[in-house]
Amino acid sequence: MSTALNATSDIPGLAPLTPVLSDIWDAPESWTLPVYEQHRGYAGLRSALAKTPDEVIGLVKESGLRGRGGAGFPTGTKWSFIPQEDGKPHYLVVNADESEPGTCKDTPLLMANPHSLIEGIVISCYAFRASHAFIYVRGEILQVIRRLQAAVAEAYEAGYLGTDVLGSGFALDVVVHAGAGAYICGEETALLDSLEGRRGQPRLRPPFPAVAGLYACPTVINNVESIASVPAIIDRGPAWFASFGTEKSKGFTLYSLSGHVANPGQYEAPLGITLRQLLELSGGMREGSELKFWTPGGSSTPLFTAEHLDVPLDYEGVAAAGSMLGTKALQVFDQTTSVVRAVLRWTEFYKHESCGKCTPCREGTYWLVQIMERLEAGTGSPADIELLLDLCENISGRSFCALGDAAATPITSGIQYFREEFEAGLQTPAWDLFPTSAPPSYRRAPGPVRNDETDRRCPRVRRSTGDFRSFAGTTMREPPTARPSPDTDQRGCRGAFGVT
Ligand SMILES: Cc1cc2nc3c(=O)[nH]c(=O)nc-3n(C[C@H](O)[C@H](O)[C@H](O)COP(=O)(O)O)c2cc1C
Ligand code: SF4
Repeated sequence: MSTALNATSDIPGLAPLTPVLSDIWDAPESWTLPVYEQHRGYAGLRSALAKTPDEVIGLVKESGLRGRGGAGFPTGTKWSFIPQEDGKPHYLVVNADESEPGTCKDTPLLMANPHSLIEGIVISCYAFRASHAFIYVRGEILQVIRRLQAAVAEAYEAGYLGTDVLGSGFALDVVVHAGAGAYICGEETALLDSLEGRRGQPRLRPPFPAVAGLYACPTVINNVESIASVPAIIDRGPAWFASFGTEKSKGFTLYSLSGHVANPGQYEAPLGITLRQLLELSGGMREGSELKFWTPGGSSTPLFTAEHLDVPLDYEGVAAAGSMLGTKALQVFDQTTSVVRAVLRWTEFYKHESCGKCTPCREGTYWLVQIMERLEAGTGSPADIELLLDLCENISGRSFCALGDAAATPITSGIQYFREEFEAGLQTPAWDLFPTSAPPSYRRAPGPVRNDETDRRCPRVRRSTGDFRSFAGTTMREPPTARPSPDTDQRGCRGAFGVT
């Protein structure tokens, strides 16, 4: 486990880290209810129940909390869209599908501190008057599901969930639902379809989920980190939260630092910190490594280079510099990395995860991979770079959901900053240009359509089914294909938080 929490927060001249969500991660058995309660756990809930629901919404609005799932939409405003007095059930759906390459913040949060999410769920549901909440978890990560189930059971036992939460008369049930491992099911409307037992594909909007979401009822969908941030806001006050961060991007957040850095891990810091500061706090680049390029918010966000080291990592700062804050997954690459190869790996991911609903993304991602494979193998044709850009233009903004834009983004920004590497792909294989970073398993020449490509006209959107559904306090049946995530080392989770 390489998480570097609280590290060097007292270095003079450096912006301090702000461990709030992560403050108890180092505590023994931090995921249990007694440990959470010893650290002011459920104090925010007690405070919320003493207020009216509208007052709680007002506090969250006042704090300036913005969604941590990627788009940064103001959380309190989203809650206020739920129509009251409509006679319909309201739902909260927590998006715990975290699958974006490089993104690994919700998983460690759920492993180390699941009660912060559960407390946030109770407060949120009280605020917008929902009596059912669903946590939609990425199904491959069984240890997270088990931990969440255990925490939900603890919360029921202690009276934080159930028919009469802490004697307030407020009733809330929480369901932990395991998806089956499709990236598109993180898109909020595809998630709703999947939760309803359908094939996970995005829905046409309007109607928006706040009006007709789960089971056609008003629904709030929020990211894990967004909801887990709520208890501290209610407990310590919106002014305290807003004292961190920048003018329009308030508060603190989890930055996931990965790649060729000395100490990859989760760093909780105020919004607006820069990568330069995070690298100084975390021990810098790996020995012998020089920063070449990086993503500010996962593979869906346009690449940055060393010239962007001082860009404030908040929503406005990153956008002004031509990218997006996204999930704050800072993937850092050094001089040994081929941009063409790295971008191809991401493109393959998007092609595989394309749900197939719309033509630009379904067909376009397939063609992007074909061309990128040629460039990686040094067998590109002179028109390939313009062809890539033309394809990206036809995918971006013309796809049904943001996955199409995401697929185009690494390619266009890669060409913008490293065009010469793409041009070199007309005659030189990437593994010759960057020999140290070319594991033999990646060395393959482009050829006829492979087996895994023949299924693109019948995309494999794996649905969650009733078999995987789990209700609080009951034992979940494991999906037959599920196994521990093979990349748990990279994700910084194996061996941590009581899981071996
Ligand atoms: C392809 C795709 C995948 C997504 N995956 C996730 C995800 O895994 N987790 C998440 O919280 N949001 C994800 N989102 C964003 C959600 O659609 C939605 O904006 C978010 O859950 C809202 O929560 P927030 O307001 O708290 O950020 C994804 C969006 C797209 C287009
Ligand atoms: S953009 Fe891709 S993932 Fe989104 S609806 Fe179209 S095919 Fe599906």
